[in-house]
Amino acid sequence: MIVILVGMPGSGKSTAGRQLARRLNQPFIDSDAVIEERMGMPIRAYFDAHGEAAFRDLEQQTLADLCQGADCVLATGGGSVLRPENRDMLKSHGVVMYLRASPDQLYRRLKNDTKRPLLQVADPLQALRDLYAQRDPLYRDTAHYVIETGRPSLAMLVNKILMQI
Ligand code: S3P
Repeated sequence: MIVILVGMPGSGKSTAGRQLARRLNQPFIDSDAVIEERMGMPIRAYFDAHGEAAFRDLEQQTLADLCQGADCVLATGGGSVLRPENRDMLKSHGVVMYLRASPDQLYRRLKNDTKRPLLQVADPLQALRDLYAQRDPLYRDTAHYVIETGRPSLAMLVNKILMQI
């Protein structure tokens, strides 16, 4: 079984995913890390050089490849649910968990971030609110389970996810 984590940037997909993989004794794969390897550069540099659409094409191809691969815990990039093809693919190839957090919570975790191109704007909190408004329905549409991240410890969050599997 592939356990797929979706959610906004800063929702804890990579951190929780790593722990979850340890608990399930499965490999952990971060799709952004695979994409960066394929691009040969950091995501932000790729966005600057080639634009978002080119990144989304590579993201779609990478997700398709990973969905065909071995069982693992897969953390996806926050924009992985934007394309309907991706939503269908993720839903049909694994158990999808939406790690939900509010824009305010996400902002507190991400305010010093310099890696995420979509947040390098004058008002990142507003950018998070806009992204959240657009994407929350898409994450819900993709996920089999919604996990409220709130303020629990990482161990509690991982337990919450494990209870749904
Ligand atoms: C993106 C989120 C990033 C990364 C890229 C685009 C997005 O992943 O895929 O910068 O559109 O929200 P994280 O969710 O791991 O930050």
